[in-house]
Amino acid sequence: MGTVAREINTVGVVGLGTMGAGIVEVFARNGLDVVAVEISEGALERGRANLSGSTDRAVAKGKLSAQDRDALHARVDFQVGLAALHSVDFVIEAVPEHLDLKQAIFAELDKVCPPHAILATNTSSLSVTEISVATHRPHQVIGVHFFNPAPVMKLVEIIRTVVTAPEVVADVEALCARLGKTDVTISDRAGFIANALLFGYLNHAVTMFENHYATREDIDVAMKQGCGLPMGPLALMDLIGLDTAYEILDTMYRRGGRDRRHAPAPLLKQMVTAGLLGRKTGRGFYTYTKQGSPVVVADELTPATGAHEAAARPIGTVGIVGSGTMATGIIEVFAKAGYEVLSVTRGAEKSAKVCESVKVSLNKAVVRGKLTEAERDAAIGRITWSTNLDHLADVDMVVEAVVEELTVKKALFASLDEICKPGTVLATTTSSLPVVECAMATHRPADVVGLHFFNPAQVMPLIEVVATIRTSAATLATADAVVSSLGKTAVDCADRAGFIVNALLFPYLNDAVKMLEASYATADDIDAAMKLGCGYPMGPFELLDVVGLDVSLAIQRELYLELREPGFSPAPLLEHLVTAGYLGRKTGRGFRDHTHR
Ligand SMILES: NC(=O)c1ccc[n+]([C@@H]2O[C@H](COP(=O)([O-])OP(=O)(O)OC[C@H]3O[C@@H](n4cnc5c(N)ncnc54)[C@H](O)[C@@H]3O)[C@@H](O)[C@H]2O)c1
Repeated sequence: MGTVAREINTVGVVGLGTMGAGIVEVFARNGLDVVAVEISEGALERGRANLSGSTDRAVAKGKLSAQDRDALHARVDFQVGLAALHSVDFVIEAVPEHLDLKQAIFAELDKVCPPHAILATNTSSLSVTEISVATHRPHQVIGVHFFNPAPVMKLVEIIRTVVTAPEVVADVEALCARLGKTDVTISDRAGFIANALLFGYLNHAVTMFENHYATREDIDVAMKQGCGLPMGPLALMDLIGLDTAYEILDTMYRRGGRDRRHAPAPLLKQMVTAGLLGRKTGRGFYTYTKQGSPVVVADELTPATGAHEAAARPIGTVGIVGSGTMATGIIEVFAKAGYEVLSVTRGAEKSAKVCESVKVSLNKAVVRGKLTEAERDAAIGRITWSTNLDHLADVDMVVEAVVEELTVKKALFASLDEICKPGTVLATTTSSLPVVECAMATHRPADVVGLHFFNPAQVMPLIEVVATIRTSAATLATADAVVSSLGKTAVDCADRAGFIVNALLFPYLNDAVKMLEASYATADDIDAAMKLGCGYPMGPFELLDVVGLDVSLAIQRELYLELREPGFSPAPLLEHLVTAGYLGRKTGRGFRDHTHR
């Protein structure tokens, strides 16, 4: 030891695919000289094209001057073969995710690179320790995990093995700072922070698609609009590359305790075999204009517009039952969209309170310039207030938003069955109960559908439309048409615990709690990893504190009970925090203390 370079000026990058080309760009943009290495002339040309494509796009978007682009390219020396790396201070490998291949490359790098050089791997899931022992300098081997696209994502995970020298860690941390990246330094565990939390979710989304649970478009739009994610999971799989994703999942399954959620969905293997690798081959879950293009084009799976709505029944009057947060928001949404609304609560006082809340909210919209005074008055004028369910006899649709208790909802549906005229669409807003239970409390299950609004209903653009095995096509078409008339996006899914969004979101949050519980990383590092590595609007602990730990635990329990998936078992730490009354922001304390903020 002691031979390590304290300053890194020349770097090498091995493999110029999805990640390598982006990493070359990051180094060259920040003034480092780069030796960029590929296995053949053809692959080198593709790597050069990857880099040019990315920098040309940056110039076109005004993010890089043409002069800076030329200077950037002048710093890159493209070469075939590892021998070109004879005088670099640091080298990072980004070849396909196979241990044998990476070990062979590291053995070779050990021979070719100067003794002081640090050897880094960009592996997502393989053991950095196992890679390091292929060299005679394991103390100079480290994981430096960039995120895709490397020039955009701010995070770098630095993986220190038990033998990595502290000064090597310090040098690499300094290098990351010079690249303008934020690093988290962690130990060598399958998937590190971000992928360990991400890939179970991605694989689950593939399984939903494979099982025809929902369409690819609906799965992706649900996660974008329901959680504010920058991309849906299937579009992200296409960006990552299905071959790479398959290898990562397979390694995580084998290294990470054989969690079935990481066993790659069978469809992935089939798509990889068929050459459908995602953007890099022009086709994966979606079809792209050409290889490497981010632009999606229509294909045979693209839903035809309009066909579905043709069968919809006309809806003019909507009854809304309930007086809580969701009912209040939903009344406002329907009234603003021009429907005649009949609100039914359990008492005049409750009606007065809901009426007041709706008025306050509509006034706010006027103050913000989102609504005129005339529109506000018209919306209020369209609402009728009642405390008698019998008044729902003539409505075209009922939306039920009463307490989340099955006995209460079933009794209500039995009443609606007696009261409402034939053909009325009966919708429940339940977020966790089986919609079919409500349907079977009536004699008209074909007319019953789930309409899962997100909170606050006035703001959130997404509604999950849930069809049970008894829901008719006409009811579903009507529900979809109503959702789009509200200016919201409908995603159709089957009647399973958590529908799309909660089924994909909460296991990930639960996994984050388990990671914290295992002391692998701090809450701050985990939050930073998901925000800076994956572009999430909030980290998992920030989100848990907002949603409420009790609500999160209840949803996770439902998912676990329905699917009996061992990996879905609620994290003991989550249960303990709930027992202790640390429920999140609403009680002033959850994963973080909010009383002094
Ligand atoms: N794709 C992602 O989103 C992502 C994100 C972070 C990390 N990673 C990791 O980065 C690494 C690379 O993944 P990728 O998605 O860029 O793969 P890729 O298939 O897009 O690119 C791999 C490149 O390595 C080249 N290569 C193969 N053998 C080589 C050799 N012997 N010498 C030099 N070059 C060689 C190939 O020609 C290809 O261009 C993997 O370890 C992966 O797990 C991937």
